[in-house]
Amino acid sequence: MKRSQDRLVRYSPLDRANHWTMVIAFVLLALSGLAFFHPAFFFLSHSLGGPVWARILHPFLGLVLVLLFVAMAVRHVSRNLLGENDVQWMRQIGDVLDNRDDKLPPIGKYNPGQKLVFWALVVSIAALLVSGVIMWRPWFAGYFPIPLIRLASLVHALAAFVAIVTIVVHVYAALWVKGSIRSMTQGWVTRAWARHHHGLWAREQEEKQRREPQP
Ligand code: HEM
Repeated sequence: MKRSQDRLVRYSPLDRANHWTMVIAFVLLALSGLAFFHPAFFFLSHSLGGPVWARILHPFLGLVLVLLFVAMAVRHVSRNLLGENDVQWMRQIGDVLDNRDDKLPPIGKYNPGQKLVFWALVVSIAALLVSGVIMWRPWFAGYFPIPLIRLASLVHALAAFVAIVTIVVHVYAALWVKGSIRSMTQGWVTRAWARHHHGLWAREQEEKQRREPQP
């Protein structure tokens, strides 16, 4: 058991509730979306209560995901811009993959891989929203010409593919970096973890703690 002085807060309860609700929405969307994509996946429509309910609920659930994602993204966007040491980190991708972390430059709250995941999600979720609204019967599709609706369905499938692959990479990376999942379940990381994986962020948080000591 780590003493609270050894810990740094990485995610607030609100951040974590937002993230895990987003995970539930994303999984249900991916399953019901696959059911519409190919007859082989039709059985997955039961994830939302059968084909009729899946067809009704999928777009509304999509809006829920967009709102949750925007709420999280606005809080994290400044942390996901490319920083000074990020370019050097990317040049040393061989060291990253071979776990030679001691050779890497210190980085901020997110490494360039996490930043790439973030921006891939921004682009794919925006594309899913726009293409989804264009296809949404009976509310909006009537306002658009049929060739545009067909294009939207192609864009929707491609964006869903990018989003699903991105999330698979995101989950793999979260499992790969030991101690990362706990940051999203319990909200904290050890100082050692922070110094090892996100040196600049650790320094910044430790300075903040010195300025504003906790009781
Ligand atoms: C079972 C599935 C998932 C797991 C296990 C998981 C795990 C995690 C973990 C451990 C972190 C913290 C990483 C760190 O602080 O270093 C994180 C951050 C994050 N996750 Fe997930 N996640 C999952 C699904 C999702 C989904 C479906 C989305 C969005 C559609 C998502 C979006 C994010 C975002 C935006 C962050 C903040 C990182 C950033 O701003 O770059 N995650 N996730």
